Amino acid sequence: MIEPGEFATRRRELMNAAGDRSLIILASAGERLRNGDSYYPFRQDSDFLYLTGFNEPDAVLVLAPGRKSGEQILFCRESDPERERWDGPRLGLDGAREQLGMDDAFPITDIDDILPGLMEDRDRVHHLVGKDADFDRRVIDWRNRLRNQKRGHSGPGEIVSLEHLLHEQRLLKSAAELRCMRQAAKVSAEAHCQAMRACRPGMSEAQIHAELLKVFHASDCPPAYQPIVAGGANALILHYIANNQPLPDDGLLLIDAGCEHHGYAADISRTFPVNGRFSPAQRRIHEVVHAAQLAAIDEVRIDRPYEAFHNTACRVLTEGLIELGLLEGNVEDNLAEQHYRRFYMHKTGHWLGLDVHDVGDYRIDEQSRLLEKNMVVTVEPGLYIGFEDDIPTEFRGIGVRIEDDVRVGPDGPEVLTAGVPAGADDIEALMAR
Ligand code: GLY
Ligand code: MN
Ligand code: MN
Repeated sequence: MIEPGEFATRRRELMNAAGDRSLIILASAGERLRNGDSYYPFRQDSDFLYLTGFNEPDAVLVLAPGRKSGEQILFCRESDPERERWDGPRLGLDGAREQLGMDDAFPITDIDDILPGLMEDRDRVHHLVGKDADFDRRVIDWRNRLRNQKRGHSGPGEIVSLEHLLHEQRLLKSAAELRCMRQAAKVSAEAHCQAMRACRPGMSEAQIHAELLKVFHASDCPPAYQPIVAGGANALILHYIANNQPLPDDGLLLIDAGCEHHGYAADISRTFPVNGRFSPAQRRIHEVVHAAQLAAIDEVRIDRPYEAFHNTACRVLTEGLIELGLLEGNVEDNLAEQHYRRFYMHKTGHWLGLDVHDVGDYRIDEQSRLLEKNMVVTVEPGLYIGFEDDIPTEFRGIGVRIEDDVRVGPDGPEVLTAGVPAGADDIEALMAR
């Protein structure tokens, strides 16, 4: 739970960063019609959620630093008992002031009349330029209205992107955000444990998918992304989400699934044998990936370059691939030529937060940025072995990924998702119980 005061502090910090003569404008997500009068589940826009904690569509936040009659303004839906009977309660204008701590609230239907006036006396408008072409046009329209209403008034000269300021702010997690992420991690880890406990030969990917969703929804933590439940060689399809095939009795099952708590995501991958016992070949591949993951996690430390943990993972994977006979030659040459990419074609992680692939720059001035306390990353090496003739038969079609969520802690890495076993022995022990 994030307290209202923290959202107000975030808005204040953003205004300080943007400067006095700025106007900041940010839109909520809209509802998406699926068909008839049935809608896709509503998910608030992460930037809007970060600054408001407000979970309704049809809203616009405006921040006007220094405005005498109120700096923090929300345009939102008015209370409407008739509509609320069908769609559920609305916070309304009073709720926006009292519960969200806004200085002012106006009906969203009045925005075209009010917003141009808020642009008067501002040098620049900050909004998420390019995120939504319709909203880009509306911002221009509001400025044009001001110019038409006030002859000789040119309106704000600059329309600049809010992205950098806001996304740098989101990159460093507060204590309350970390509590939400630990809870999402805990429930997600429990879902993976449940999948391991439930899995038996003869089951289908769909049945395991259902086990995951049951744990997520029972904790009121919806999936943070479409889970991947990939039996056998389906694990080689990196974005496999069909989740509808029978599980191979002697094969592996790769699950990549996580839920969100108050919008904050977890992102976990585990790979385990459907029958509870790794074959020798499966175990060897799994051990290489696990060794790469442990070595990479150890690089998630204050002042290490972001890319260090990826480089470490690539090195350990390359050493393992040579040992397995899947690559030839020495480690340095293989690394220089990136030969591991035949078996490992993605990066080792990404920022994690309100979005699964969270916002924030990875490089500054063309250099990998240094990790700072309370950044959160995923660490997710994998190996995906194809069916080509030069691959020893016992390794063909094996896909393994192991993914954990790691906070840059004051004294080293804090693995948020340690509640589910990752190593082969620990997985076998859990599945045997
Ligand atoms: N689940 C998405 C990812 O691992 O990046
Ligand atoms: Mn990930
Ligand atoms: Mn993942």
